[in-house]
Amino acid sequence: MDIKKEVAKRAEIINKAIEELLPIKEPEGLYKACRHLIKAGGKRLRPVLSLISTEVLGKDWRKILPAAIAIETIHNFTLIHDDIMDRDEMRRGVPTVHKLFGEPTAILAGDTLFAEAFKILTKCDIEAENLIRAVDMLADVCIKICEGQFLDISFEQRYFVSEEEYLDMVEKKTGVLIACSCSMPAVLFGEGEEIIDALWNFGLLSGIGFQIHDDVLDLIGGEKIGKDWGSDLVEGKKTLVIIKAMEMGVEIEIFGKGKATKEEIAEAVEKLRDCGAIDYASKMAKEFVERGKEHLKILPDSEAKDVLIAIADYLVTREY
Ligand code: IPE
Ligand code: IPE
Ligand code: MG
Ligand code: MG
Ligand code: MG
Repeated sequence: MDIKKEVAKRAEIINKAIEELLPIKEPEGLYKACRHLIKAGGKRLRPVLSLISTEVLGKDWRKILPAAIAIETIHNFTLIHDDIMDRDEMRRGVPTVHKLFGEPTAILAGDTLFAEAFKILTKCDIEAENLIRAVDMLADVCIKICEGQFLDISFEQRYFVSEEEYLDMVEKKTGVLIACSCSMPAVLFGEGEEIIDALWNFGLLSGIGFQIHDDVLDLIGGEKIGKDWGSDLVEGKKTLVIIKAMEMGVEIEIFGKGKATKEEIAEAVEKLRDCGAIDYASKMAKEFVERGKEHLKILPDSEAKDVLIAIADYLVTREY
């Protein structure tokens, strides 16, 4: 199976719907900032996961397309605010929103997208009772993301963070939105709890793997990732790689120093590779995806299910 092709096919549907559901309005300055990042592209993995999960359920994705767009809109809101918090200047190969439009406008652009997402979600062609459950679910997810992002930031100030604490943090900041992408279609179509939970747990565990892999890509992804190289090191992020390296007594001089040259980052990455911390994290990312896949066993076999499984593998093998 050509998984990139399977994703691209569905990403095209998502991109068309974004044009329709997220127009430019007045004041133009605000909406240009709102649309800057979403127009710059991105992999669209979350809404694509929603479409495939719908196919797995044997349902019509047209009815829940707005839910997929709502989830991508929430994702973009979190990225705009995340780049302010992480002081990053590049994303999706273009300057970040706050870099181009200034922090006050970037904060407002994020807030606008946050609210627009809920308005878009209500456009699903679904009965009210299930829609209310989906709104409640998305709101819970947003709260969890804030909790996770708070932990991420607060860990910068702490010397020791355990692997368990790290996993709790990434489950919240990243896992829950991917879990929501996979299980919201089941909520919208009024599936039973067992199916909703299976898709949630699949997404949650795969999403944790996805974030661990993202932490690895921050170090070894190169130009392709379209983001600031080594940002996590410079900012002092307690990633799984760093937690493992610290445990082994490996010292990274630039860690948390706020700035570093490309040569210094390269030197740090080499150390992290040599001590085995990068391999350790990569392996753990794949283990989480394997655990996630276990939850799909209760769903009937189908071509769509094979695509969902292939995407899960892609989450932790992707190059950007
Ligand atoms: C980036 O997510 C933020 C994380 C949770 C790691 P993606 O890697 O899915 O970003 P885009 O949407 O493709 O740009
Ligand atoms: C992002 O984590 C999580 C959220 C945006 C909620 P990161 O800070 O690692 O994401 P990138 O690397 O900037 O995309
Ligand atoms: Mg970041
Ligand atoms: Mg961050
Ligand atoms: Mg990252």
